[in-house]
Amino acid sequence: MPSIGELRRRALESLSRPSYTLANTNILSLNNNANLFGVNPAVKEVAESFDFSRLWAYPSEDSDALRLRLASEFDASPTEIIVGNGSDDLLDIVCKSFINPGDVFCQPTPTFRMYKFYAQANFASIDEKVLNDDFSLRTDDIILARAKLVALCQPNNPTANLMDPRDVRRILSESEGITILDEAYSDFCDSDMLADVMESERGIDIRTFSKAYGLAGLRVGFAISRKEIVDELRRVRTPFGLNSFTEAVAIAALDNKGWVTEKIQEMKVERERLSRQMQSLGFQVYPSDCNFLLCGSPVSTDKLVGALEARGVAIRDFGSYPLLENHVRVTVGPRALMDRYLEILRPLMAEVLT
Ligand SMILES: Cc1ncc(COP(=O)(O)O)c(C=O)c1O
Repeated sequence: MPSIGELRRRALESLSRPSYTLANTNILSLNNNANLFGVNPAVKEVAESFDFSRLWAYPSEDSDALRLRLASEFDASPTEIIVGNGSDDLLDIVCKSFINPGDVFCQPTPTFRMYKFYAQANFASIDEKVLNDDFSLRTDDIILARAKLVALCQPNNPTANLMDPRDVRRILSESEGITILDEAYSDFCDSDMLADVMESERGIDIRTFSKAYGLAGLRVGFAISRKEIVDELRRVRTPFGLNSFTEAVAIAALDNKGWVTEKIQEMKVERERLSRQMQSLGFQVYPSDCNFLLCGSPVSTDKLVGALEARGVAIRDFGSYPLLENHVRVTVGPRALMDRYLEILRPLMAEVLT
């Protein structure tokens, strides 16, 4: 009998899923850019009125009610929208829909690490174009890669900057294949390139409820694109992707955006304060259009991240990424959490620097 390892798909031999969070739940998680300002009040509101006695029934196959609500929100047709179990689900669905083994997948680097993972899981040949030193796109190089699929993040995780919209527009209109435009963090900087995606014939705009909307635990994401593309995505996705409670919460969250707007404002104040404090500790802090800060560290990130982890704080180490030697990423949270973090960081920096 072959062992389980021997039964594994050979093409996936070297693939391993990057992990998002640490196992210890007591840890202060400043490493995954969730909304540390709390859970969207839509959860409580829906829980109080939701008809749980109906949960024996399947939900709508394609989350029709949420697609309808999103259509009015984004001035699109429900046929141009597909929802998924977090935007991760949609990234996977896009790769499954369009990548043949060996097709070229192109991305700027550094960017969100899961694009490459889903492309690899679907046997793409990976072509990474390192960003310019100022974190702008190598637009010509990306277009000249003639990729089947390009993924762009606007604003970009982990560099925290908005890409020049003219570069994004050029890639959307001049790339031969499909272009994903991931706007996961766009709520934090009022950026919106949906019109450009829709104008291009091959763009897919991907969004999430996990960041500004404070619903990472519920897992809701969606993609907006031309109907022809959405039809392709629907062909490969599993039915009933969202449960009915989650669908109702997402609709309620869209119906009342007051909480989201308020928390974004609070985040911006704390981001500014955290940036000043980290600079005073010797970090090089970059401007941010997101709910996190990218920081060049005066000490080895290996040491820093390990020492913080030992004290119950998780931040992300980007030291092994091109352009980001000795860089870390820190999620911005409310004042009390940031104070807790800084109280741990300050003596640690004094210790490692001396
Ligand atoms: C750029 C980007 N896109 C997508 C995601 C995944 O979000 P979701 O929770 O919707 O799967 C993340 C999560 O960190 C992200 O940073």
